[in-house]
Amino acid sequence: MSEDRAPTPRPEDVSLAGRVVVVTGAARGIGRAVAETVAEFGADVALVDRDDAVELVADRIAATGRRTLVGLLDVRDRPAVGDFADRIGTTFGTVHGLVNNAGGTFVSEFMEANERGDAALVAENFTSVVDVTRAVVPLMGAGGSIVNVTSSEAFQAAPGFAVYAAMKAATEQLSRTLALELAASGIRVNAVAPDGMPTPGDAGLAAEVAERSRFLPPPRPPWGSTAAPEAAAGVVAFLLGDLAGFVTGASIAVDGGLQAAGGWHLRS
Ligand SMILES: NC(=O)c1ccc[n+]([C@@H]2O[C@H](COP(=O)([O-])OP(=O)(O)OC[C@H]3O[C@@H](n4cnc5c(N)ncnc54)[C@H](O)[C@@H]3O)[C@@H](O)[C@H]2O)c1
Repeated sequence: MSEDRAPTPRPEDVSLAGRVVVVTGAARGIGRAVAETVAEFGADVALVDRDDAVELVADRIAATGRRTLVGLLDVRDRPAVGDFADRIGTTFGTVHGLVNNAGGTFVSEFMEANERGDAALVAENFTSVVDVTRAVVPLMGAGGSIVNVTSSEAFQAAPGFAVYAAMKAATEQLSRTLALELAASGIRVNAVAPDGMPTPGDAGLAAEVAERSRFLPPPRPPWGSTAAPEAAAGVVAFLLGDLAGFVTGASIAVDGGLQAAGGWHLRS
């Protein structure tokens, strides 16, 4: 087995200039922050969302000189995902990064949920990750980096979110296996597990939990405050870039210590 030395890290290794990154769920929240951050670091961006607000995000990025492509689609729609992958290939040729970020849930205890709701959660938070990854990996010519956005709920009980949390755990597991299978293609696969970022989606859920859940989460992360979604975007940009060249199969919590705390929390 060869023991190659890693090159000495240089400040310019944070750059994503000349790279193409695909980001799902890019209209708002963490996905919006990731799309804008990777563009700021120099990447061209293919943005996917079912919400047409994604066009505004793409326009803002294009105004900075980066190339953009918008896929206005639902990531649960496999044919639409395949068509968009074809458009990405035609437009950019090669893809270097994929951020599977689109996801979401609603509050419902397990025995009150129904088959339709379960199917939506599985498709949204797991099957779509499988489908988008299968569609995009063939566009990664000489290697790449995949970041799957999961949740601290993948590692702990999640009352009111049983199926969502199980699918996030499944995505964590998928990331580890793909890290092995895709290593021969030079593709790294990692997960980022966020929490404590009051995005539009997260704030809506928190309000629902406060109103009608039998269980309450810690009032704020041990760090002492919540964070803007840019906190996750910075870690995603690191994982996409050369500084993380030997990082694969890892999961990074970006949650102000919530996962580590295991329920311990500051007095309000
Ligand atoms: N904000 C947090 O603290 C937090 C905590 C745990 C996990 N997460 C995860 O981070 C990711 C982003 O969450 P967020 O907080 O930014 O949520 P958000 O609801 O604010 O944004 C999600 C974006 O994804 C898009 N999207 C959702 N489902 C889609 C679909 N089927 N097809 C196309 N687009 C779709 C939405 O339109 C929206 O623009 C999600 O996977 C979520 O589960 C976030």
